[in-house]
Amino acid sequence: METSFLLPFSLMILITTLNIFTLTLSATPTDSTTDQDALLALKNAITVDTNGVLSNSWLTNSSICEWAGVTCGVKHHRVTAINLSNFALHGKLTPHLGNLTFLQTLDVSSNNFTGVLPTELSKLHRLKHVNATSNNFTGEIPRGILTNMSLLEDIDLRVNNLSGALPSDICNNTPKLKILILRENLLYGKIPRNIYKCSELQKLSLSVNMFNGNIPTQVGNLSMLTYLSISYNDLQGNIPYSLFDLSSLEFMHLSRNNLSGSIPTNLDNLRNLQTLDLTMDNLTGHIPRQIGNLTSLLKLELSGNRLAGMFINFV
Ligand SMILES: *[C@@H]1O[C@H](CO)[C@@H](O)[C@H](O)[C@H]1NC(C)=O
Ligand SMILES: *[C@@H]1O[C@H](CO)[C@@H](O)[C@H](O)[C@H]1NC(C)=O
Ligand SMILES: *[C@@H]1O[C@H](CO)[C@@H](O)[C@H](O)[C@H]1NC(C)=O
Ligand SMILES: *[C@@H]1O[C@H](CO)[C@@H](O)[C@H](O)[C@H]1NC(C)=O
Ligand SMILES: *[C@@H]1O[C@H](CO)[C@@H](O)[C@H](O)[C@H]1NC(C)=O
Ligand SMILES: *[C@@H]1O[C@H](CO)[C@@H](O)[C@H](O)[C@H]1NC(C)=O
Ligand SMILES: *[C@@H]1O[C@H](CO)[C@@H](O)[C@H](O)[C@H]1NC(C)=O
Ligand SMILES: *[C@@H]1O[C@H](CO)[C@@H](O)[C@H](O)[C@H]1NC(C)=O
Ligand SMILES: *[C@@H]1O[C@H](CO)[C@@H](O)[C@H](O)[C@H]1NC(C)=O
Ligand SMILES: *[C@@H]1O[C@H](CO)[C@@H](O)[C@H](O)[C@H]1NC(C)=O
Ligand SMILES: *[C@@H]1O[C@H](CO)[C@@H](O)[C@H](O)[C@H]1NC(C)=O
Ligand SMILES: *[C@@H]1O[C@H](CO)[C@@H](O)[C@H](O)[C@H]1NC(C)=O
Repeated sequence: METSFLLPFSLMILITTLNIFTLTLSATPTDSTTDQDALLALKNAITVDTNGVLSNSWLTNSSICEWAGVTCGVKHHRVTAINLSNFALHGKLTPHLGNLTFLQTLDVSSNNFTGVLPTELSKLHRLKHVNATSNNFTGEIPRGILTNMSLLEDIDLRVNNLSGALPSDICNNTPKLKILILRENLLYGKIPRNIYKCSELQKLSLSVNMFNGNIPTQVGNLSMLTYLSISYNDLQGNIPYSLFDLSSLEFMHLSRNNLSGSIPTNLDNLRNLQTLDLTMDNLTGHIPRQIGNLTSLLKLELSGNRLAGMFINFV
């Protein structure tokens, strides 16, 4: 009697154990443990958590998927988004973020982060959205982020203290990039010609940096561009004619550089241009009459140049 009862019971234990074992294999809990380790490393690298958001919510007795600012995928419970925007955090970003292999969105904007953007971020090949604006990041932008992120759609790093030059092979494998905003940093060097490879780029802002050299004609190959701002740099040379072929362009800000030569006259394609700002450059020659034919134009700023011919017929 006793053995006939015990036998199926031990069999049941064996089956249950096997079940747990198979489940363990298929759910690969080591990966979500890695995610938790990465988030805890991030929490550790935060020196001031002004509103206590992380200290109250990022606790190991709850799932990381319930932590404030953390979003997980429905299927695998892996971290797909971190959004700590405006959490009033001080501290650094940890290299451990590079272990969040499923991360698509990283938004740490409007905090007081310092230090570098870890190069390990370029390991995150699912990244689509990166926003680190309005912090105090220093050092170079990790090269891989600008050259080899096949799904990246937008990256906004404005208002930091990032320095260094842009890699000459920028855009080599970032075919989906639509928004690249690097304004208000300490970036220098030439605007790389390779930029044309970001063929879906709609918004490009490099203003308020220290870029020098000429504006590469290849910027004129970015046919989807609606917003171009490269004001407040040390750019010189002529305005490439190719820029005026960008028929989608709505805003063109080239002010406060040291551009010379005359304003290109091939204005017929700028059907959508609303703002043309060439203030405080070093342009000479005549103001092209064709400017009067730009039917979408709302704002034209040409002061601080050495231009002649103020007669314009606005339609
Ligand atoms: C988790 O632990 C904290 C204190 O460490 C406690 O305040 C909180 O209630 C716990 N949460 C759960 C869901 O047990
Ligand atoms: C992050 O959260 C803020 C505030 O909730 C929101 O405005 C912003 O769009 C979010 N960022 C992303 C990338 O979704
Ligand atoms: C996560 O990344 C850090 C730093 O990049 C590394 O030292 C560590 O071994 C990684 N951890 C895991 C579990 O992969
Ligand atoms: C990045 O975040 C800031 C505010 O935190 C927001 O104004 C900006 O639009 C965001 N950038 C992108 C590309 O979404
Ligand atoms: C960053 O810190 C400075 C002073 O340390 C403070 O004035 C500023 O408001 C902070 N910015 C944010 C976005 O928390
Ligand atoms: C940025 O960091 C530098 C030092 O790294 C510091 O001097 C400066 O005050 C910081 N700026 C802000 C706005 O926190
Ligand atoms: C950049 O650094 C300078 C000098 O340390 C500091 O005054 C400034 O506030 C920093 N800018 C940002 C956006 O943190
Ligand atoms: C680009 O990223 C892929 C992974 O998506 C990697 O295998 C490859 O080595 C990287 N290429 C370069 C040039 O860094
Ligand atoms: C860039 O545009 C020019 C015409 O403005 C064209 O001749 C050239 O083939 C284009 N280059 C690429 C790589 O599309
Ligand atoms: C502006 O460029 C001219 C050459 O076109 C050069 O002679 C001059 O020094 C430059 N000015 C500044 C302020 O860089
Ligand atoms: C404008 O260009 C001339 C030479 O073309 C140069 O001598 C002058 O310094 C430039 N002005 C400024 C403000 O850079
Ligand atoms: C402006 O457009 C009108 C009508 O389309 C055309 O007759 C005229 O030649 C154009 N003017 C210039 C300077 O292109």
